[in-house]
Amino acid sequence: MENNKRPETMERITTPALAEAFIEEQLSALREQIGDKKVLLALSGGVDSSVVAALLIKAVGKQLVCVHVNHGLLRKGEPEQVIEVFRNQMDANLVYVDAVDRFLDKLAGVAEPEKKRKIIGAEFIRVFEEEARKLDGIKFLAQGTIYPDILESGPVKAHHNVGGLPEDLDFELVEPIKLLFKDEVRVVGKALGLPDNMVYRQPFPGPGLGVRCVGAITRDRLEAVRESDAILREEFAKNGLAGKVWQYFTIVPDFKSTGVRDGLRSYDWPVVIRAVNTRDAMTATVENVPFELLQHITARITAEVPGVNRVLFDLTPKPSGTIEWE
Ligand code: XMP
Repeated sequence: MENNKRPETMERITTPALAEAFIEEQLSALREQIGDKKVLLALSGGVDSSVVAALLIKAVGKQLVCVHVNHGLLRKGEPEQVIEVFRNQMDANLVYVDAVDRFLDKLAGVAEPEKKRKIIGAEFIRVFEEEARKLDGIKFLAQGTIYPDILESGPVKAHHNVGGLPEDLDFELVEPIKLLFKDEVRVVGKALGLPDNMVYRQPFPGPGLGVRCVGAITRDRLEAVRESDAILREEFAKNGLAGKVWQYFTIVPDFKSTGVRDGLRSYDWPVVIRAVNTRDAMTATVENVPFELLQHITARITAEVPGVNRVLFDLTPKPSGTIEWE
């Protein structure tokens, strides 16, 4: 498709001034395309969909309807931040869908990684579709497609990382950042006033914490993933690693080991810490996290996260390990 090709003359957006110029240009293009019609957007809270939301709020205000689906596999504080930033601060028209039980019920007992991914992707589409059908007069579907998505997958909507969006709803697409690279999206996001922890966020897989709660997901083990991840992120931020390490998170395998707590024998899960650097996620090296910091994080996780009695650090580069554990 002709307009899916980035013109060779297009300047790389590297400064706030260039971002402002891009934003102004997009605002008039969006107003022209959308007119007085309504636009729907699946807002995950990731940088791409957040930048698209912020642009559209500026361009057409309440004509934008954002749908945030909480599938229960988001990181600690993420749904709350989406509501705070978009509904409370930007006054967006935001539909929050609590689909936690629905997803976790569907996933119960499913241990096979690709099956888990399929269930999460399919259920996401179903929930989003149901919400879309409840709304009247939607003409457009906005998407956070970026240029690498087009380069990698051709002009199809394959980019959404939980598996795509409804194909059978008759919407016209709105894709304001489809010619931008990720670093440019971040510069634009910053210029739009989005918070730093949204703009400079590390990559997060569509199936979310689901692939870090290894095997069949249980609610208690999923909470152990979420709580340990929150501690790791807090400590990395405090110690200057958050902006430096490409991806860092915790995993909770589905086995237990013995330990001792308050003089009593425990039988609990381990938490695995993963912290890696990469260019393109095809290969990765392990971050050299200071030993004292690892000890401190271990002490916090074993003291604060119920059901956990050990912390391990994954020393494996990619290859032989993948970045995620499943
Ligand atoms: P692996 O584990 O294959 O991960 O070394 C490479 C990068 O891809 C991310 N990842 C995913 N992202 N949906 C996504 O949107 C997925 O199913 C998925 N699986 C892995 C992973 O977090 C890493 O950044």
